[in-house]
Amino acid sequence: MARFKKNHLQVHLNLNVRGLAPSATLAINEQSNKLIREGKQVFKLGLGQSPFPVPETVVEALRQNAHQKDYLPVKGLPALKEAIAGFNKRTQRIESDPDDILIGPGSKELIFILQLVYYGDIVIPTPSWVSYSPQARIVGRHVNWVPTGAENDYRLSPEKLDLICRTDPERPRVVILNYPSNPTGCTYPIERLKLLAQVARKYNLILISDEIYGMIHHNGQHVSLAHYYPEGTIISSGLSKWCGAGGWRLGTFSFPPNLKWLLNAMAIVASETYTATSAPIQHAAITAFNGNEEINEYLKHSRKVLKGIARYLVKELEGMGVSVPHPQGAFYLFPNFENYREKLKARGIYTSVELSSHLIEETGVAILPGADFGRQPEELTARLAYVDFDGRAALEAAERSNDGKHFDKAMVKENCPRLVEAFDRIGNWLADL
Ligand SMILES: Cc1ncc(COP(=O)(O)O)c(C=O)c1O
Repeated sequence: MARFKKNHLQVHLNLNVRGLAPSATLAINEQSNKLIREGKQVFKLGLGQSPFPVPETVVEALRQNAHQKDYLPVKGLPALKEAIAGFNKRTQRIESDPDDILIGPGSKELIFILQLVYYGDIVIPTPSWVSYSPQARIVGRHVNWVPTGAENDYRLSPEKLDLICRTDPERPRVVILNYPSNPTGCTYPIERLKLLAQVARKYNLILISDEIYGMIHHNGQHVSLAHYYPEGTIISSGLSKWCGAGGWRLGTFSFPPNLKWLLNAMAIVASETYTATSAPIQHAAITAFNGNEEINEYLKHSRKVLKGIARYLVKELEGMGVSVPHPQGAFYLFPNFENYREKLKARGIYTSVELSSHLIEETGVAILPGADFGRQPEELTARLAYVDFDGRAALEAAERSNDGKHFDKAMVKENCPRLVEAFDRIGNWLADL
């Protein structure tokens, strides 16, 4: 079949996309799956997926709505937008007009479209979630990484943000702030949110407040920056993390009324690309955002499990001489293996990428290198997602234990044996260096 000449198949890629690697998180998952296929045992601490099942009432709502087949309005199902406005009010005491809410197939897609339609720089702290910066690159936006340090649990400082904005005060900028944070699990005290809000107001910044982990603050005490900078904050959220429904693909943006122009521009792009978010999923999401007693219990137990595991694992890491910020939410840890630098060097390991690649090859424990989150290549940080356990069984165990009782060390050992083993393997590996 010599019908096509070879040069018809030449690669002609958009320059913004040329050279982009697949998403770091997906790449580690593929490497893990490859090792599993080779018969090796792999501990998946790479991909940040909720370990918990979707609450049964929400699954039932999806069953009931499987027949929904019509295209829905591009901005989202009106009843769902109302449910989200109610959710914002109930969980954050924030008033939102349903008309200021945009539904999309995942908050990732919404963040991408915002970067596309808004003409300005992207400002993100390092470390930040792996996708903000590649998204900016795809749409040709300039990324300003703002350095942070371990002494401050890697939080964005108002002074550093001011410093960046001062250089060109009129420049349009979007700041993306994620808390509780992927990759650190840390969040922002109210005082810090207020100071960040002052800087945002001074320079008319647009703030995407990525609160996808807000509902799994371990003490249920998440506070939105939108309280302090209501006029410029877009709250980004969705079903993926607190409702265990990442694969359902449903994300939400709650805009302030004066950013309607931005919402409308995003809706135009949405209408020309994905058309509307899946109808059965939107109908089912009404139940999730309206909430009910079962969901309240589910959240209470999810937080208890995550908090107990975090406490156990932080102790383990510190026992190995590895420093780690103490998380307040989500399911991530961001340890620094600096204390092992000399020993690692002797093994030819100089960077976080080398560290995680040796770790998975030699112990089967998959983690993500700090460099994927914007840290300097030679910094020996990594992100560990502590999700490799049976979420359903852990929730049941949390439910069975008396109310006041923590999800303690014994419960972690009993319900999360793979996590315990993964950390034992990390400890042994470090000890043998
Ligand atoms: C910080 C952060 N933001 C946004 C997302 C995207 O979530 P989704 O597109 O599933 O709503 C993720 C998912 O991992 C995340 O960790």
